[in-house]
Amino acid sequence: MTDPAPARLVVLVSGSGSNLQALLDASADPAYGAQVVAVGADRDGIAGLDRAAAAGVPTFVDSVKAYETREDWDAALAAHVAEFKPDLVVSAGFLKLVGPHFLAAFGDRYINTHNALLPAFPGIHGPRDALAYGVKIAGATLFFVDAGVDTGPIIAQVAVPVLDDDTEDTLTERIKVAERAQLVEFVGRLVREGWTIENRKVRIP
Ligand code: GRF
Repeated sequence: MTDPAPARLVVLVSGSGSNLQALLDASADPAYGAQVVAVGADRDGIAGLDRAAAAGVPTFVDSVKAYETREDWDAALAAHVAEFKPDLVVSAGFLKLVGPHFLAAFGDRYINTHNALLPAFPGIHGPRDALAYGVKIAGATLFFVDAGVDTGPIIAQVAVPVLDDDTEDTLTERIKVAERAQLVEFVGRLVREGWTIENRKVRIP
């Protein structure tokens, strides 16, 4: 029997793209079961787009300010992603909240990785907020995106210690190491094994 075609991933980025790189590296092994078929961004000139280009993966940029309204941007982003027929869409450091058009098209298969242990410290400053609060354990959360800010059903979480002499940078980097490993592991499991969501509980058989 021949292996099934790899699942199609579209990855959305806004920055350095180290999570994207981890997925690109993992998908070089056919046994991983997934392939990054496109990378989308909300801005030009970011390392994430360079990483995609270096891997020979098509890219597209939809910047909010290129559209008259946020709704137009949301619809355009959804249309661009749809062109690549993704089985899973991964927000990997994508700094924009998508809207109703995008969620109508991909809300059942759009995941995001966040650098805090949700529901604590949602938003764009997870490690900074965790440090300021004085928590002893920080971490990362992988979840299905819903209409809220970092509120969707949780797929996986990983904890990392907060050290006494941590700065925002050192904590952010420690979280990212664990976050990348979690992302690779669970994207692979989702596409290979499937999943169910019932009453917010995500289960991978
Ligand atoms: C990740 O830590 C993610 O949680 C946060 O931004 C970071 C993206 O890093 N929202 P990278 O662009 O994948 O290197």
